[in-house]
Amino acid sequence: MLAVLDRLARPLLRLVDPEDAHSLALAALRLAPLARPAAEDARLAVTAFGLTFPNPIGVAPGLDKNALVPDALLRLGFGFVEVGTVTPRPQSGNPRPRLFRLDRDEGVINRLGFNNDGAEAVLRRLASRAHHGGIVGVNVGANKDSPDRVSDYVRLIETFAPVASYFTVNVSSPNTPGLRNLQQGHILDDLLAKVIDTRERVRTKAGDTPVLLKIAPDLSLAELDEVVQVARSRKVDGMIVANTTVARPSTLREVARAKEQGGLSGRPLFRLSTRMVAETYVRVEGAFPLIGTGGIDSGGAALTKIRAGASLIQLYSSLTYKGLSLVEDIKRDLSSTLLRTGRDLLSEIVGADAATITAEAWPV
Ligand SMILES: Cc1cc2nc3c(=O)[nH]c(=O)nc-3n(C[C@H](O)[C@H](O)[C@H](O)COP(=O)(O)O)c2cc1C
Repeated sequence: MLAVLDRLARPLLRLVDPEDAHSLALAALRLAPLARPAAEDARLAVTAFGLTFPNPIGVAPGLDKNALVPDALLRLGFGFVEVGTVTPRPQSGNPRPRLFRLDRDEGVINRLGFNNDGAEAVLRRLASRAHHGGIVGVNVGANKDSPDRVSDYVRLIETFAPVASYFTVNVSSPNTPGLRNLQQGHILDDLLAKVIDTRERVRTKAGDTPVLLKIAPDLSLAELDEVVQVARSRKVDGMIVANTTVARPSTLREVARAKEQGGLSGRPLFRLSTRMVAETYVRVEGAFPLIGTGGIDSGGAALTKIRAGASLIQLYSSLTYKGLSLVEDIKRDLSSTLLRTGRDLLSEIVGADAATITAEAWPV
């Protein structure tokens, strides 16, 4: 039912402003009667950060910033949903237009700037759906005008610990000026120390909530060395690689649109973000698992990301171009790959190509 609606609606949604199209799609998801999800292939289940994911394909944050439709997304077959980025106080974000499609590149540029309903509203929604279960992570960030950004993260961990399956500490959005400076060694060390300390403090009340760190694909390898070293020493539970890029690959065809300021995602981000997954994987040395995100738009792309080092993957931009049925297509492809190669579990191929990928020429 939804797949049919999706196929009919997508050409029409292309005709309206991308942000209006996004709001319409969320409204449709809230209203559409959803069938039961198809049965899961047990070989695609992944255990990571102490959680068991029914399959490795998640919804990346940004799609459901305000936790309006996590259950609809789970029932479409996603293994997990990450809501947010949520900031302590509601925020309207940058002036519109701030979301652009690069149709010929199957890419997206956004400079939304953490527009969201704020912690109180999002907490209310997550608390009211908690009995449904399923893995719903909460991506947290600082308000643009916050006088103390570190304390924003701390407050959010306290607030959401009872309802979050995991946390993502987002220090990599390019659309809040100065936010990415939190990736600098000593600043990151202080931030993660306080975040982990807060998680420990609320543990008796809220349980053991994994904390993941989401990084930008634009870090230099020297910066990545430092980030991974801090993440390991502060014992985060995992990393998400990567957020959108401020780079503009030379291969882009939508040259005029590419000049818009903001973070680029979708297919043009695939090579860079996959390289960063592999670079992170070799530095982490198995200390914790990675979630790979950036330009995954097919079973083949999902497999490449997993072989680069991702135990789990997340999608966003490709859903605009390929539709929501993409999740089932990718699962089918991953299952048939396992069958064809005689593997019992997806985890057997995680990172299989990391060393090869890190030896290739840098993607431009
Ligand atoms: C419109 C839009 C909004 C986004 N908002 C957020 C956000 O609030 N927090 C975040 O961590 N990432 C955000 N992202 C980044 C995505 O979560 C993801 O890391 C990135 O888009 C790469 O995946 P993709 O190529 O599959 O889209 C956003 C991406 C897009 C396109």
